Amino acid sequence: MNPRSLRIAVLLSGRGSNLDALIQQVHRADDVPARIVGVVANRPGAGGLARARAAGITSACVDHRAFSGREAFEAVLATTLEALEPDLLLLAGFMRILTPGFVERFSPRMLNIHPSLLPDFPGLDTHARALQRGDAEAGASVHVVTPELDSGPVLARVRVPVEPDDDPQRLEARVRAAEHLLYPAVTAWVASGRLELDARTPRLDGRPLPPQGIDHRVEEGRLRPCSREHEDSD
Ligand code: GRF
Repeated sequence: MNPRSLRIAVLLSGRGSNLDALIQQVHRADDVPARIVGVVANRPGAGGLARARAAGITSACVDHRAFSGREAFEAVLATTLEALEPDLLLLAGFMRILTPGFVERFSPRMLNIHPSLLPDFPGLDTHARALQRGDAEAGASVHVVTPELDSGPVLARVRVPVEPDDDPQRLEARVRAAEHLLYPAVTAWVASGRLELDARTPRLDGRPLPPQGIDHRVEEGRLRPCSREHEDSD
């Protein structure tokens, strides 16, 4: 294992399908200088904990229900995460709101994946809201976590078509498959040094990112930038 590889901690609450994608495409990829050094959940039954164990990755649970308040919970959560000495903290389906104090402790090296084309639809029920509005496209965004929910600088998005017979579940499944390509790709940008994280102006290849990050589509099962400009920068 390359000792200089990026140390990643993953924080989650549930199933962990994005964690699985990160394990396959980052942790186990020979060409990405990064490894997942720990997975922390706030629910003992989180499927992501079992996935971490199966992959031989250190895992821990800090059950929020065992604490009297958010700050007591976060104090233990932060200590547990800091013990892993992460260079990057990835939220992957973490379903608790974090206080500004916690966010500032890890900023700007804490990212989240959100199931909408931000700035549209921060918060919950994103797929139902996109369908209700009659959008032709939905998608997911990877952004820097800042104290305001789902509002930090967007690094990259993936655009997914809405099909005529979609319901929220069908759309969610299509978006989630695209998330599994986007999150590992952005993580690999950080690992390779292409992406400089900043809570205001992140830079890719030395240039400030556009306000909505780099847009992508999925073509033949692969992630492709929508604009040719970013195809040549590898
Ligand atoms: C994903 O839809 C992600 O966008 C959101 O939480 C969900 C996590 O899913 N933040 P999984 O646990 O990775 O399957």
